[in-house]
Amino acid sequence: MENFTFYSPTYFVFGKDTEARAGEMVRRFGGTKVLIHYGGGSVKRSGLLDRVKASLSGEGIPFEELPGAQPNPRSGLVYKGIELCRKEGIDFILAVGGGSVIDSAKAIAAGTVYDGDFWDFYCGKVIEKALPVGTVLTIAAAGSEGSPDSVITKEEGMFKRGATGDAIRPKFSILNPALTQTLPPFQTAAGITDIMAHLYERYLTNTTEVEVTDRMIEALLLTMKHEGPRVIENPDNYEARANIMWAGMMAHNNACGVGRTQDWTSHDVEHELSALYDCAHGAGLAVTMPAVFTYVMNHDVMRFAQVAVRVWGCQMDFAHPEVTAKAGIEALRSFLISIGMPRDFEELGAREEDIPKLVASLCHGNGRNGRVGGFMSLDENDCTKIYEMMVGRKAPLCPMNETEAFLWKMREKGARLTDMITALRQEYGADTESAAVEVEHFLGRLYKNR
Ligand code: NZQ
Ligand code: ZN
Repeated sequence: MENFTFYSPTYFVFGKDTEARAGEMVRRFGGTKVLIHYGGGSVKRSGLLDRVKASLSGEGIPFEELPGAQPNPRSGLVYKGIELCRKEGIDFILAVGGGSVIDSAKAIAAGTVYDGDFWDFYCGKVIEKALPVGTVLTIAAAGSEGSPDSVITKEEGMFKRGATGDAIRPKFSILNPALTQTLPPFQTAAGITDIMAHLYERYLTNTTEVEVTDRMIEALLLTMKHEGPRVIENPDNYEARANIMWAGMMAHNNACGVGRTQDWTSHDVEHELSALYDCAHGAGLAVTMPAVFTYVMNHDVMRFAQVAVRVWGCQMDFAHPEVTAKAGIEALRSFLISIGMPRDFEELGAREEDIPKLVASLCHGNGRNGRVGGFMSLDENDCTKIYEMMVGRKAPLCPMNETEAFLWKMREKGARLTDMITALRQEYGADTESAAVEVEHFLGRLYKNR
């Protein structure tokens, strides 16, 4: 394990009806005039905004409002927010919404007390000073409610970039899982995917002997594997929502990432997609992660085999650990498809012909130095191949033999790897080992032909 510091001072208020404590929390952290920042209207429709306002008024705290933070929040509204805060003498920003609203609030908070252009922070300058920010979270996903990060898209050039600094860690975050019950299933699933991505980004490390954080990550991934399908099946399942919401916070406040190098390739590769196509961040990650993982797998095949066995229940193949590693990636992909996430460029609304543009922005845009990735250092050529792997999953080259045709049909319906192995055993009387080899050959052809 490497040396580290860990500072996570956010005060969490978790549970039903906790938004009623927003005013009390703002007062506790010294706010006397508040900017309530929110998104496109979900908090109005649900009545949450009125409850938050009533809570502030109950404490006698005056407030201004700034609506309109959009998913993949834009710099234009940040500039507007900074101007508003300065003009109105705002001393506390309350974000009511998801990661996009919170990130926009953090950017406004940092920009208001900074003499230069707030975008400097999104070009690498650490945020050391900011107005205090509090949050009332409405979607379990980005983890911004407990993180020192903010991600904003600059309209000029459409660069989607992150900034960081302990100064923008929220002073408090109110987490009421019931508020997430109004989410459309797609957004719920995108949130689950993002949470899992935050865990994988930390799992992919070059640091050895990190058992405690490995095990914490695995526990949270197992939780998502268990609770994800339950909440997709029954959106009103409060307990499942509660577990997912806390997992989302734990996945990204870096408790699981301390003392180890981290990756973040999937996020960097994805941010170009949500910048160019305005897709949901989680949906982009569902397509990105399996491609990135497949590409970097051989850098440390045992790490991928470990998560395959411990989280996805794959059988360890000691003679061929790469088979186990691939099975784990395939299990992740199948899981994401099963909760309704896109599987490739086409389903995401991305275009193959844009790959050069995506790679140029990823590797060189906004002052980047040509390489990405903390697990494996990747250049333009690597990134091009990764994007190419996300382009439509082509059928294996003809002629397909009977077993492959059978597996392909299952695949088209989103079958999981384990389902395919079981089906081969049942249909063709194969034993588990030869069924696994058969499925592996089939997947190998799929990968080769993409
Ligand atoms: O705008 P409204 O009307 O509120 O609708 C939102 C939005 O359309 C809707 N929504 C949120 N809560 C709802 C709801 N609809 C019904 N009921 C509710 N309870 O959901 C849509 C998505 O919201 P958004 O805030 O964009 O989602 P998320 O929390 O996934 O945030 C995504 C952003 O966070 C960034 C992403 O890149 C992306 O820009 N990230 C921020 C991180 C951080 N600050 O630490 C880390 C992440 O890796 C991520 O990059
Ligand atoms: Zn993310």
